[in-house]
Amino acid sequence: MDKMWSGRFSAGASSLLDEFNASIMYDRKLYKEDIEGSLAHASMLAKQEILTTEELRQITDGLSKIMSEIESEEFEWNISDEDLHMAIEKRLTVLIGDAGKKLHTARSRNDQVAVDFRRWVLKRDKDIVDALKLLMKEVLVVAQKHTTTLIPGMTHLQHAQPTNFGFHLGAYLSMFKRDIKRFEDSYKRNNVSPLGCAALAGTPHNIDRDMTAQMLGFDSVSVNCLDTVSDRDFALEILFNISTMMMHISRLSEELVMWSSYEFGFVELSDEYSTGSSIMPQKKNPDVPELLRGKTGRVYGSLMGLLTVMKGLPLAYNKDTQEDKEGVFDSVETALLSLEILKEAIKTMEVKAHNMQKACSVGHLAATDLADYLVEKCDIPFREAHFITGRAVAKSEELNIDLSDIELSYLQEIDKRIKEDVLEFLVLKNSMNARTSAGGTSTIRTKEQLEEFSNFLKI
Ligand code: ARG
Repeated sequence: MDKMWSGRFSAGASSLLDEFNASIMYDRKLYKEDIEGSLAHASMLAKQEILTTEELRQITDGLSKIMSEIESEEFEWNISDEDLHMAIEKRLTVLIGDAGKKLHTARSRNDQVAVDFRRWVLKRDKDIVDALKLLMKEVLVVAQKHTTTLIPGMTHLQHAQPTNFGFHLGAYLSMFKRDIKRFEDSYKRNNVSPLGCAALAGTPHNIDRDMTAQMLGFDSVSVNCLDTVSDRDFALEILFNISTMMMHISRLSEELVMWSSYEFGFVELSDEYSTGSSIMPQKKNPDVPELLRGKTGRVYGSLMGLLTVMKGLPLAYNKDTQEDKEGVFDSVETALLSLEILKEAIKTMEVKAHNMQKACSVGHLAATDLADYLVEKCDIPFREAHFITGRAVAKSEELNIDLSDIELSYLQEIDKRIKEDVLEFLVLKNSMNARTSAGGTSTIRTKEQLEEFSNFLKI
């Protein structure tokens, strides 16, 4: 009968219940936020003359002793204490006696856990943004080196138009920049204090919520207590933001896997970030991008898991909500590790520019340019130009050459209006550089885009 809530019970909890009900095995991760929250709460209670200065001193000393006990791993975590909030309060009472029992005045574990978890999530928003910026910097370094390196631009995984590798990486930089904005937006929206909402309805005690909000670094206090203690959309937001970021990482990973195959040969991952096979001695496997692709699924699982936990809950707090933490902890850890290893893999990979350029010489990448030539120089309507170009492609196939290598005479056999100046249009580099519209692939436009990312990252 040592439970803090045992007053109305006549029999103790079964050990099976203890095991089932407890969150202490994982919510101990929140110890810093929990102790800081209690320190702010106690200071406010003292300022409002709900606690005496002496009681505040005892609570402050007790909590800082507990902080060092936890950090030096002397603290005893006990499953029968249920969660970290009760474990810390119990220890405080052992250390300082009656003053410890007063700390929970005008507070509930419902607002307490909402404060702790929210602050933990807000810190991780920042950590992920920092790590994502470091990854972007490495991607940008590679992109800046390759603004003239031709690579086949594809749709449906079929050769489409020539682009440059810097432009291709610029697409990922755009995605990552939006990801950063998403984390920053969530941070701003969710930086409101739940403390003082108590169990669900506020408290009759004369508390000062603004003071605790300010002490804990929140921008403001939450508006409605019933909402605040039951809502977990701040946790869903970080899960969604991580999921979207991982989806982008996964698409890049998929390309890295393809590009490292013999068939593509566009990049070679460094030995440090590749693995071997236990049976096939020649193998060098791209496990890092494959695992990044795989871990994306695991993060989606956490997002779907919490959405499902939340969807049928009546207001306000329900114990189901305790299931909010593990998926978030796991996803944040996965995200930070993924960002770090992808950064290293990109930094150390070899870009095989020659193979990228070679791949451009098949698949008639200049076909659109021929059609554009017919429109621009011969005043032929686009639909007809498309047809004529189709004939030229068929001729090239028959000759077993790429359209960019076709002789003028063959083109003129197909349409007399074609002049010698067409050959310039069919040069692949010219084709890439011709796309000068805003956001296009020409080297000039690519450099402008990369400049934007460089300004964003302030390098
Ligand atoms: N361990 C709980 C959680 O993580 C803390 C809040 C419990 N509140 C309650 N009224 N049982 O959600």
